[in-house]
Amino acid sequence: MSKGLKIFLSIILVLLLIAIITLTTLKILNKQDKAPEPESPYSTKAIAAMEELHLLDDINNKEYSKTIEVLLETNNLRKEYLEEYFDIDYEEIYNFPNIINKLLDKNYTSEEINYITKNIKDDITILLNMDYVNILAFKDISNFDISNIERYLAYQEENQDYDLATVVTYVNIGLDKDGYSDYTEYTKEEALNDLTILVNKYHKLPDDYEPDDLVALSYHNGYTYYLRSEAAEAYEELSSAALLDNVIVYPFSAYRSYDTQNTLYTRYKERDGEEKADTYSARPGFSEHQLGLAIDIRSNTLTDNLTNNDYEWMLDNSYKYGFIVRYPKGKQHITQFMEEPWHLRYLGVELATKVHDSGLTYDEYYDLYMK
Ligand code: DAL
Ligand code: ZN
Repeated sequence: MSKGLKIFLSIILVLLLIAIITLTTLKILNKQDKAPEPESPYSTKAIAAMEELHLLDDINNKEYSKTIEVLLETNNLRKEYLEEYFDIDYEEIYNFPNIINKLLDKNYTSEEINYITKNIKDDITILLNMDYVNILAFKDISNFDISNIERYLAYQEENQDYDLATVVTYVNIGLDKDGYSDYTEYTKEEALNDLTILVNKYHKLPDDYEPDDLVALSYHNGYTYYLRSEAAEAYEELSSAALLDNVIVYPFSAYRSYDTQNTLYTRYKERDGEEKADTYSARPGFSEHQLGLAIDIRSNTLTDNLTNNDYEWMLDNSYKYGFIVRYPKGKQHITQFMEEPWHLRYLGVELATKVHDSGLTYDEYYDLYMK
């Protein structure tokens, strides 16, 4: 091999080596350039916010949280609540980031916030306008109504011996307010079409409401007594069944128009004063008798009441024919009327049975199961 050729080959070899080294270096450099960024499930916007807050590691080292992402994206993430945020489930509600920050400011825990955003949703503003409330105490109370929360708290303060479920039911009934001071008025259609409606000092019938299917009862004593047809038929069955057990009862009042109730109530008020009259006579518009679904019965041996035996029979059996004893003993603080053994309310067999079995007054039952 000539010297010239040797030199030539050496140069080629050196050039080749340089080329290989350069390429390899470039390749390595290139690789380093594209060093894998830690895979992040967060949006670019969220990551940018994380960087700005110097929270890249704190957040990415933990499981992905949609709540955190949304807070970051909306610039609402507050460092002091980072831990809590991870335990708060994201909910599709209006203004979620602001709401949870405000609740955290009020010292609600993540668990409480999860309950609130899942269950209270549209009414959260009520809580935002109040001091902290132990909201989870209401968790298992089925008739809890957030719009009454301030009334519950006030009523509980005044009635510390009641448990919270009782407080909720009583306030829902309206018992924290005086009877007749704040009431719902039914429409005529509602009264006509629903044999189960609740009438009490918080639920009124229209002054000119009259049932359209009143039927005379078979018993007459110079007066004729009327009930709505379904209730009239049920009453005939009830009194016949009672008779078989030697319980002999007669009606002494049934349907009463608004005007009749007005006359009665006014007479009682003049005689006993308003406070006393209000314990046993409903004001016009507030009587079940105007529904044509209530009947007062007496024992054949008494003029305006039931013997203990007959009353016991009614307590134990009237539901089988669709009636309940509407104003039982010991329930005046709920029904707002003194005990009336003689006053039966027709609800239909199915509902009367449920109310009977529940041991509740109709006011309570209605709030718990009928709304
Ligand atoms: N005595 C009952 C309460 C009424 O007047 O309807
Ligand atoms: Zn009555």
